[in-house]
Amino acid sequence: MLIKNLRSILILSISAAVAVAVSTGVRADEEEDFTVAFGKSEFGKRCAVCHGPDGVGDGPLAELLLQPPPDLTKISQRNDGKFPVLDIYQAIDGRRGLRAHGTMDMPIWGNYYRVDASEKLRAPHDVNYEEIVHGRILALVYYIQSIQEE
Ligand code: HEC
Repeated sequence: MLIKNLRSILILSISAAVAVAVSTGVRADEEEDFTVAFGKSEFGKRCAVCHGPDGVGDGPLAELLLQPPPDLTKISQRNDGKFPVLDIYQAIDGRRGLRAHGTMDMPIWGNYYRVDASEKLRAPHDVNYEEIVHGRILALVYYIQSIQEE
């Protein structure tokens, strides 16, 4: 229970930090490091199984998938040198657009994080679970942005 509470506090503070960072448009280095580190650890736990520990697409499940996971370190390269934050956010969230129908191999993480937040936090009514989902997805986006090859 204590561990769950600590975890909740961590998640809440990350989403608060990210929300502040997004609203001011400026991120302090420390906040950035923290968010990227959180994204990295989350990536290792839930994404590396397909995308590989370094995101290049060589996870143990990769060869069982119909569609191979793309190399996540070359997203900017595939996109004229720009990292498409919103597209990547939506690719991970998966609840909007074409992917919402769930026909692809990439899981719909937005649903997963939404259920995870409501089951684990058992928070009072005034907690906005969507903010927590948003914070967790953004941490992953920032981590993936941090591993782009020039
Ligand atoms: C079951 C295997 C699997 C897991 C687990 C998985 N992915 Fe994916 N992912 C894929 C596949 C396959 C694709 C390519 C097909 C697609 O776009 O739907 C993909 C596509 C993506 C893309 C789009 C890349 C691009 O160039 O457009 C991103 C970003 C991504 N995954 C991030 C993640 C993150 C972050 C996690 C963990 C929270 C994760 N994935 C977990 C299989 C997986």
